[in-house]
Amino acid sequence: MNFSNKLVSWYQVNKRDLPWRNTANTYYIWLSEIILQQTRVVQGTSYYLAFVKAYPKVEDLANAPEDEVLKMWQGLGYYSRARNLHFTAKEIAANYGGKFPNDYQKILKLKGVGPYTAAAITSFAFGLPYAVVDGNVIRVLSRIFGVDTPYDTPLGKKQFQELAQELLIKENPSVYNQAIMEFGAMQCKPKSPSCSVCPMQGFCEAYNNNTIAKLPVKSKKIKVKNRFLHFLMIETEGGVYLGKRKSGIWQGLYEFPFLEFFVRVNEKELLLSEEWANMFAGVKVEIQSISSEFIHVLSHQKIYAQFWEVKTNDINLRNHQLIAKEELENYPVSRLTEKYFETLELT
Ligand code: ADE
Repeated sequence: MNFSNKLVSWYQVNKRDLPWRNTANTYYIWLSEIILQQTRVVQGTSYYLAFVKAYPKVEDLANAPEDEVLKMWQGLGYYSRARNLHFTAKEIAANYGGKFPNDYQKILKLKGVGPYTAAAITSFAFGLPYAVVDGNVIRVLSRIFGVDTPYDTPLGKKQFQELAQELLIKENPSVYNQAIMEFGAMQCKPKSPSCSVCPMQGFCEAYNNNTIAKLPVKSKKIKVKNRFLHFLMIETEGGVYLGKRKSGIWQGLYEFPFLEFFVRVNEKELLLSEEWANMFAGVKVEIQSISSEFIHVLSHQKIYAQFWEVKTNDINLRNHQLIAKEELENYPVSRLTEKYFETLELT
């Protein structure tokens, strides 16, 4: 048996029963793929089920307010996925009569859809012969076929895409694509692959050459930026100030006003800083509490955050609104702010 047939045999015995695998509804398949883009199945499943329940049709998602969609997404991270999801739902409802087009190029043009997601949708929903290439697939192919070209270079991308396309079972692209991703997730895992019980062991290049830990190869190291954020929960008679983020990874989410530094500053340094003086010019500030440090690790940045609870008399903060403290939990916020909320007794 060749690699592709072996893979499918393995899949038929070992596959997980996942809710989006039992549907031919393109909207549900698209939704699951967007949720699973940077999220593991165990975390994404409850979100998928909640979205399907709240928005059974693409039109329901299209008609929902953005704040509501972001609130549903809260905790999943990479919020541009939620904004693009909403945008594309509106587009499908308005320009495609609520039906996803049965065409790779048209699917690829949708916001939030790249080559991986377009291949997944068109193969799972329409049986079209497009091979998926994601992190799982790259790991499986690089190990079994001993490909050591860095996968984040133009040459590496081309090689993995071509190899995946060659191996695709054209008569059943859906099952083949699901199988290779499942094999990567369950068997050929990044850190501790289950080689001793692997059906590919006999012809796996990495296993036979002892290079499993070295493959796949990546060329660039991501530079991680440290950010030190001091969020200010400013309480006045009318409530606390909350603003809606206009750009960046947290666009569309609500947050407390904050002061940002690129080095760690202690309490004394913060109180003497220009940033603090600008924020509270001419205002009497009473510090109620300072939280411990919350560390939030993202792919390109590491955020060290502290939350300051302060009381002031009237303060004029542009672009922020006053919210009653009990209402805070109704707003979509980052996981970081949510963790802080969990330490407060808000209700
Ligand atoms: N990861 C991305 N897409 C997936 C799918 N359809 N099933 C399981 N894991 C996935």
